[in-house]
Amino acid sequence: MRKPKFMLFQVFNFIMVIQLAESVVPQEEVEVLEQIMTLMGATNWRFNGNTCQLDMIAQVPKLHPEAEARIQCDIDCNNGNSSECHVITIIHKYYSLGGVLPPQLIELPYLRTIDFAYNYLGGTIPPELGSSQLQSMNLEANNFSGTVPSDLGRLINLQALILSSNRLTGMLPSSLAELSNLKDLISDNDLSGTIPNFIEKWRQLNKLELIGTGLSGPIPSSISILNLTDLRICELSGPTQSFPPLDNAVGLQTLVLRNCNISGEIPAYIWQRRDLQLLDVSFNKLIGGISRDIIGRSLRYVFLTGNMLSGDIPDSLLIEGATMIYFHAQRMPSVLDMDVPYMLTVGEMI
Ligand SMILES: *[C@@H]1O[C@H](CO)[C@@H](O)[C@H](O)[C@H]1NC(C)=O
Ligand SMILES: *[C@@H]1O[C@H](CO)[C@@H](O)[C@H](O)[C@H]1NC(C)=O
Ligand SMILES: *[C@@H]1O[C@H](CO)[C@@H](O)[C@H](O)[C@H]1NC(C)=O
Ligand SMILES: *[C@@H]1O[C@H](CO)[C@@H](O)[C@H](O)[C@H]1NC(C)=O
Repeated sequence: MRKPKFMLFQVFNFIMVIQLAESVVPQEEVEVLEQIMTLMGATNWRFNGNTCQLDMIAQVPKLHPEAEARIQCDIDCNNGNSSECHVITIIHKYYSLGGVLPPQLIELPYLRTIDFAYNYLGGTIPPELGSSQLQSMNLEANNFSGTVPSDLGRLINLQALILSSNRLTGMLPSSLAELSNLKDLISDNDLSGTIPNFIEKWRQLNKLELIGTGLSGPIPSSISILNLTDLRICELSGPTQSFPPLDNAVGLQTLVLRNCNISGEIPAYIWQRRDLQLLDVSFNKLIGGISRDIIGRSLRYVFLTGNMLSGDIPDSLLIEGATMIYFHAQRMPSVLDMDVPYMLTVGEMI
């Protein structure tokens, strides 16, 4: 259903171009972009600098409903001044591209956003990208190997760095501490070392996801400085630790700390987070009961399986059918796909 819409949009834009004689992207940028696309393996497309569009030159099978190939130029392209018309965004995702991430990206001086998620791009992440002006970099689910280049710490305007589901190894470079504008970090690889203490430097960070990263615990107590709305850490090896201090994360909406070797009690303030919708602290060593003082009326999913909790479930937690509480189940459904409706399953506490 999405493809016809997309095609229609292209045709529409093409007509607009003829009528309004839109300005052109400078030839150097057009050439660099073609080079980039070739190196990425996107051979069925050509960049049209007159329209700032990707034209399909050979039929590309629609592999995935989310597949998207799009270039975006400055808003100024439309006022007829070609010296102001530049590529700012490249999106090419879910197209199974099998090339590499070209260092030539830095030759597009106005480029701010790349989204190459869900391809098979391989090789290493080029350190040259540290000299770009990128603000958002999504390389999720590709085949990148090697380490996270420390040069990425120079991307001081970076707001999102999504490296999940690659084959990256090594430690997270300490230079990443400089990314103080980071709002969103998702990483799932084969990294090593502990969760770095420098996460406290990411003051703008709202969303931190470290699922199956290879990093080990404990979760640094400096996490208390962050004002997170979404924290997901799973499968964290390392010594037993107490519940991470999240008293400052007053706007917390999602908290997943699954299989993180956490002992002790769930702090009472967790039950009082008004915006908390999903709480998954399963497969830890938690003891004690659920606080009776539950304010979080948004709480819809609660996973407590695989702990040593005791006592009973306060009535106040059992709001309008949506709450899901697993106590005894051996296996849990994926927490990453929460928008499917779940049945209410309330177990007895041990
Ligand atoms: C086009 O933009 C350049 C750079 O900002 C400026 O120097 C030039 O005067 C503009 N030309 C027109 C026709 O607006
Ligand atoms: C991923 O990269 C490795 C080499 O680093 C290669 O052997 C493998 O075939 C690649 N996988 C895919 C799906 O492209
Ligand atoms: C959890 O902590 C204990 C005690 O520190 C340790 O023996 C155990 O190996 C840890 N588990 C994991 C999965 O790291
Ligand atoms: C923390 O985040 C919440 C919600 O995102 C916001 O309302 C609050 O003002 C923030 N607090 C600070 C100290 O930035």
